[in-house]
Amino acid sequence: MAYKDLREFIALLEKKGLLERIKAEVDPILEIAEINDRIVKEGGPALFFENPKGSKFPCIVNLFGSYERMRLGLEVENLDEIGVRMLEFLEPVIPTNLIEKLKALPKLKRLADFLPKYVSSGPCKELIYKNKPSLSVFPILKTWPEDGGRFITLPMVFTKDPETGIRNCGMYRMHVYDEETTGMHWHMHKGGAGHYRKAERLGKRLEVAVAIGSDPAVMYSSTAPLPEDVDEMLFAGFLRKSPVELVKCETVDLEVPANSEIVLEGYCEPHERRIEGPFGDHTGYYSVQDEYPVFHVTCITHRKDALYPATIVGKPPMEDCYLAKATERIFLPLIRKQLPEIVDMNLPIEGVFHNMAVVSIDKRYPGHARRVMYALWGLGQMSFTKMIVIVDKDVDVQNPSEVIWRIGNNVDPKRDIVIVEGPLDVLEHASDIPAYGGKMGIDATRKWKSEGFMREWPKEIVMSEDIKRLVDKRWKEYGF
Ligand SMILES: Cc1cc2nc3c(=O)[nH]c(=O)nc-3n(C[C@H](O)[C@H](O)[C@H](O)COP(=O)(O)O)c2cc1C
Repeated sequence: MAYKDLREFIALLEKKGLLERIKAEVDPILEIAEINDRIVKEGGPALFFENPKGSKFPCIVNLFGSYERMRLGLEVENLDEIGVRMLEFLEPVIPTNLIEKLKALPKLKRLADFLPKYVSSGPCKELIYKNKPSLSVFPILKTWPEDGGRFITLPMVFTKDPETGIRNCGMYRMHVYDEETTGMHWHMHKGGAGHYRKAERLGKRLEVAVAIGSDPAVMYSSTAPLPEDVDEMLFAGFLRKSPVELVKCETVDLEVPANSEIVLEGYCEPHERRIEGPFGDHTGYYSVQDEYPVFHVTCITHRKDALYPATIVGKPPMEDCYLAKATERIFLPLIRKQLPEIVDMNLPIEGVFHNMAVVSIDKRYPGHARRVMYALWGLGQMSFTKMIVIVDKDVDVQNPSEVIWRIGNNVDPKRDIVIVEGPLDVLEHASDIPAYGGKMGIDATRKWKSEGFMREWPKEIVMSEDIKRLVDKRWKEYGF
């Protein structure tokens, strides 16, 4: 059964001892962030601050900050299950005869069952403020000392393509400038930015609605790297195996999840920019100030006893790492559909997801490792990966110790390093030009004669099975 809303998930976490309530008054300015940092780093629970200073609304952090909570949120035993389920739906339906057509019907029907459902009202409408709506009532966090102010860190930002009307929902942090204005930090490569660019071209305002706090599948979906024009709300419906209920906004022509805790409605004017940041980001560095569009709030609706969820990013591991690890697992089968030679992939937490990918492949022909690198550099948000390491299929990419050992031994830097140039994540700070620069591929596979390697590749050291069995058998005898 899908979670009805965020509070049902919170209740489950509490029942399982995975959420702790803090009754003491705690300051949303830095204090919550420091508590959160210590708790996340020791693998601790979600934190429910009942009494944030200056607000009557509670603030909940670290909801998804462990593999267990991520699995519970998406209601699976194993995150890999989701990708496998997804493939079932994506297998081509090309019925060649009547029987095949009939067979395909239940699949299409099941997909239709996940389409969002439009409802006339919902809990997010319990209170409606159209006259002087104010963000100041919420316990919005300042997370690091040199941040430019408070930031809304778990917003689900809804926009529609001004030409096609197709919806996008992305998680983009929002720098609070005053009670009714924020920055809109959608990076240039993201869906919201694409809609805004079109609106600017048309000389039109872009309407925006921001939902804060919904059920876990909806919240996760706003972070998922879906292909452009695939509706995140359909994807959330697929994840929760039940349609997302959407309700019309009050002042803009957009729909938001009816179960949301808080909804901010408003718009971004074309060509209006304001300095956004600095912000202590998930790279572990402050992201550089830059000009971003400005979000003007026209209406706030919320539940009477709204919960304000937030996340704190910083030096890894932080909560967002588990959201990103879910993405790694969920989308791997999809990537493998296009690149079946990929065996496994690890986006190491310390690589902050766009800095490093380690990929094992079933190498089949000369230059195969390079083909996989180039393919990944052309694939959705994987294209921003600064370093891609390719290893053979027998290497456990989830084991950094083995990966480093293989790189060290198998790589001739003169031959096996590939340097290319292209778009980079906006948070990349080492490149000369913002969002553009070098990327490196490391081919750490065994080299073949057909690749020009004429020496003999040495054998790996492995103990013989009979000796292992003998030692197993006699282990106690040795007195250990
Ligand atoms: C906690 C968190 C904060 C994020 N903040 C931003 C952000 O400020 N700007 C941005 O462009 N992407 C941000 N992202 C990544 C996007 O949510 C992600 O790339 C998503 O796929 C974007 O959706 P879109 O492809 O529909 O634009 C954030 C992700 C997480 C988990």
